[in-house]
Amino acid sequence: MSETIESLLHEARSYPPSPEFVAQANANDPSIYDKAFHDPQGFWESWAKTLHWFQPWNRVCHFEPPVVEWFVGGKLNACYNCVDRHAEGDRANKRAIVFEGEPGDVREITYAELKVEVSKVANALKELGVQKGDRVCIYLPMVPELPITMLACARIGAAHTVVFGGFSADSLAERANDAEAKVIVTADGGWRRGSVVPLKKITDEAFEKHGCETVEKVLVLNRVGEAGGDVNMVEGRDVHWSEIVTRQSEDCPCEVMDSEDLLFILYTSGSTGKPKGITHTTGGYLTGVTATSKLVFDLKEDDLHFCTADCGWITGHSYITYGPLSNGATVLIYEGAPDTPDKDRFWRIIEKHKATILYTAPTAIRTFMKWGAEYPARCDLSSLRLLGSVGEPINPEAWIWYHTNIGAGKCPIVDTWWQTETGAIMITPLPGITATKPGSATHPFPGVHIKVLDDHGNGVEISGPHATNMTRGGYLVIEQPWPSMTRGIYNDPDRYKKTYWSRFPKNYFAGDGVKLDNDGYLWLLGRVDDIMLVAGHNISTMEVESALVDHPAIAEAAVIGKTHDIKGQAIAAFVSLRAGFTGSDALIAEIKGHVGKKIGPIARPDDVFISADLPKTRSGKIMRRLLRDIAEGRALGDTSTLADPTVVASLKDRYETSEG
Ligand code: WTA
Repeated sequence: MSETIESLLHEARSYPPSPEFVAQANANDPSIYDKAFHDPQGFWESWAKTLHWFQPWNRVCHFEPPVVEWFVGGKLNACYNCVDRHAEGDRANKRAIVFEGEPGDVREITYAELKVEVSKVANALKELGVQKGDRVCIYLPMVPELPITMLACARIGAAHTVVFGGFSADSLAERANDAEAKVIVTADGGWRRGSVVPLKKITDEAFEKHGCETVEKVLVLNRVGEAGGDVNMVEGRDVHWSEIVTRQSEDCPCEVMDSEDLLFILYTSGSTGKPKGITHTTGGYLTGVTATSKLVFDLKEDDLHFCTADCGWITGHSYITYGPLSNGATVLIYEGAPDTPDKDRFWRIIEKHKATILYTAPTAIRTFMKWGAEYPARCDLSSLRLLGSVGEPINPEAWIWYHTNIGAGKCPIVDTWWQTETGAIMITPLPGITATKPGSATHPFPGVHIKVLDDHGNGVEISGPHATNMTRGGYLVIEQPWPSMTRGIYNDPDRYKKTYWSRFPKNYFAGDGVKLDNDGYLWLLGRVDDIMLVAGHNISTMEVESALVDHPAIAEAAVIGKTHDIKGQAIAAFVSLRAGFTGSDALIAEIKGHVGKKIGPIARPDDVFISADLPKTRSGKIMRRLLRDIAEGRALGDTSTLADPTVVASLKDRYETSEG
């Protein structure tokens, strides 16, 4: 990327919080920002004090980039904070987890019951040889036993590494081996679109292909029963959950952990190379997710928090397991696909359980747009009072659709920017304070110091409230330490330093581009690798995609820069249409014209290619690298992290035929 990122899209709509929402909000005094800005350590310390510590810290923060420690010398246990302190108090009979399986089975678990379940699993892990300081790999479907096993690990001081249940044997083995896991916890299978994902078989394949030498035992939950067929149990290695967990004592003391003891490792793929084992420690992480859950989601005692992420992603760690439970909230989890048995499944779940908060991803929202508004319209969504978005920039049109069709025009939307590495939400509205703008994640969370830097490391200037040029963008950098930041890449300090701390020394470089508008709002532009240079102008793929999705025929769009002799890069767009539209040359011409009108002729795509689906990772992020390979006629790079590899193969065939 050269020079600063120019940013072309303008979005003028603004949605202030309603007076009713402000009146009841957990955060409604704007001075919270100033106070935290001037004393971030004091701000975070006040949140750490809301947790239960066995021993207080003697220093709030020690920061020598890239080394950071928070609440130095403090002792606590994350499981105690998420479970015991509620189970032993007024919340004993309050529901901690409400679960709905894909086949429709429902389970409700109170905090008192959660303590029993977690303690039994913790004792079972101990019997299997797990000790404080060990790593446990969790490869489970999205059933209550997944967060329960995470908490059981935390209880006995073992770090967990959760591997998403949609990953392959190779991915599982790579992660279990890198983390040197002693035990793998898996299930006979999980439900997805009416079929069984055979997790135990995949685990066996991981052993066959890659050895997994550090793994001594495999604990196998019975989830799908006969539907999964025979489960092969390896003598001396594999143990049934029902044989070992059920007979354990309900009593398992929480280990006293140092604030800086490892809580978990979570692998992120990145677009190339070996996955990075992102580490998080105990005291700082728990402080960060506790504070953000309470303020960003405005969590209240009687809320039912529905986060649609899987615990295989950081969102499921921070905003299903640790953040909400530390606050004593009730979380709603769902095992399966959003279109099983029909495309209204999420809305049926919200209606049935009366969820009050929905936290989901733009990729899901755009899919719902594609399916049509009749699905949410036929369900009663009036229990919802707050909506959230995470994972990618949300295009303004998707934001408006979400606001109108899911939030009935009344629910505030929190568009939350953060990363596996940041542990907790970093840029977000506070729903009782911030006037939101569709497509902007708005402002840094209190106590978080964000900078927008140009190529030379200088702060990007904006030219005052009356300037017409609100288009300056740059690199997103975080300049002060925050408690939930990663402590590094597991067993690879050099890669950690190189990836995050070398572009702008002493500052954390997130890898994302961002623009700052004249009102001080931040607009995320996506990964800097995805920014195009067209005839000397930096254009973010995000902005062109938003202009495309603004066209009534388009549900989803992915834009890439394709090598071009004259312009450097030319814009190629891959789009999928909303229900009821069909592709034609006239429509393609109209779409190109629409982008030209919305952003300017410079952003008009050279090619628009219509496709039923776009290639996405399993967490729903579009794989632009593969689209570049297709558009530039190269052999496809690594496709192992794709959710559905057939999408890209058929896209390549059809693209080549149409170019032909
Ligand atoms: C992107 C997910 C724009 C961003 C919690 C980031 C976003 C990467 C947003 C991290 C958002 C996440 N607006 N972009 N609200 N949220 N991203 O590690 O590029 O799976 O760097 O963590 O997702 O993805 P990860």
